[in-house]
Amino acid sequence: MAATEFSLEPCATDPIETVFRTICTDLPVAESLPIFEQLRHSEARSMRGQPPLIWNQAEGFLVRDGYGNQWIDWSSGVLVGNAGHNHPRIMQALQEHLASSKPLMTYVFAHQARASLAAKLVEVAPDPLSRVFLLTTGSEATEVCIKLARTRGIRSNPKKRVIVTYAGGFHGRTYGAQLAGGSAEWLDPNPSFIQVPFPSSIDTKDPSFSSFTDSLAEAGVAPGDVAGVMAETFQGREAKLMPVDYAQALRAWCDEHDAALIFDEVQAGFGRTGKLFAFEHYGIVPDLVPCGKGISSSLPLSAVIGSERYMDLYGPGEMTSTHTGSPLPSVAALASLEAILEEGMIQNAAATGEYLLGALQEIAAPYNERVEVGGVGLVAALLFFDNRQSLTPDPQAAFEFCEKCFQRGNLLFAPVGKGYGANKFCPPLSITREAIDDGLYGPGGIKETLHDVMGSRVVGATT
Ligand SMILES: Cc1ncc(COP(=O)(O)O)c(C=O)c1O
Repeated sequence: MAATEFSLEPCATDPIETVFRTICTDLPVAESLPIFEQLRHSEARSMRGQPPLIWNQAEGFLVRDGYGNQWIDWSSGVLVGNAGHNHPRIMQALQEHLASSKPLMTYVFAHQARASLAAKLVEVAPDPLSRVFLLTTGSEATEVCIKLARTRGIRSNPKKRVIVTYAGGFHGRTYGAQLAGGSAEWLDPNPSFIQVPFPSSIDTKDPSFSSFTDSLAEAGVAPGDVAGVMAETFQGREAKLMPVDYAQALRAWCDEHDAALIFDEVQAGFGRTGKLFAFEHYGIVPDLVPCGKGISSSLPLSAVIGSERYMDLYGPGEMTSTHTGSPLPSVAALASLEAILEEGMIQNAAATGEYLLGALQEIAAPYNERVEVGGVGLVAALLFFDNRQSLTPDPQAAFEFCEKCFQRGNLLFAPVGKGYGANKFCPPLSITREAIDDGLYGPGGIKETLHDVMGSRVVGATT
């Protein structure tokens, strides 16, 4: 099922002028349409899914087009811009690199920025995560984790090749990552990948760890055949962590059966949840951690951080990538990490995130028979349902909400999750309470927009 496309028909908007948001044109802007046409004639159809603005400038938690409009960015791209758009430290580090004629690529030949970044990642990761492999995308990072788990498993026992992941999970869009994410219905079914229920999902009946072992038994998988278990640290579609006792039981189960525990931090890492790594909420350490997105807050870079046991399975030249630790992305990632660590952004994500979650819960309360709110740190989700009993998603309501927010200066990426029924709020970690209040309660804010979308759908809702 594909997402709904946003209309390219310019639509009259009510002007918005606040400290953070300006909407002063029809949207999409008529003058911008030739750019969309160019893209439509040259790109794959799959690239059309986002609200139709042309990003022209971005700074901190604000995004501007070239026509006078400015949005609060609730998207961070797609949870990339943790340190904020064009953070001065990142910009300066990149400019210094460019000004000094340092190389723009080196393949696997060594360079200082890669060495500094790898050392910094090892320094901030808990033991035994002492090795790093730098890549470009999150999908590559999750695929490397699958490969390492299966390599170690198969070397010990040819049947030890099963990768257990979670229903409703997402690990990227390359082939193996997609098999792991459970979108296998349109691909070749692969018996080496099985999915179990995510314990805190809205449609999961049993949050206890027995749902894991029961699901393996139902699938006929012997624990000894499991090479690895991979979970998003919080499941992206609902922005909810798993129960702590479940995570701890999972760690113990993986130890008992010598399976790799992989927590996918591509979305969850680098301060997003109010901890540097979201797995810290569970008081355990995984064996392998795929990272991406917010690792650089900007240029494409991903990483696998893991224990030597897994990371040193391959010899020189056997596990590399052309763009591994490319210089500019490495420079950006190092500057971003320093900014996140030294400028209180993790603490801000925890405190401001709690405020945001509480505010969204309050705003959504009148519609709670059809809207559910989840969140941790600075990632929250509004889930829209047609029917609360059957939990059928309402993609139309989620889409209308997203489009109206866009027309009023609140920029969200297009709906995601089950049936495209969820809207996510994940601003840069530098966002202030003042900006949150403006986006939520200011003129044309989220509160008003939710009422406009849900007021007529929920009989008797009072705001
Ligand atoms: C949890 C998770 N893992 C992996 C990926 C894939 O990352 P990329 O799109 O950089 O390949 C994503 C991207 O949304 C993600 O959210």
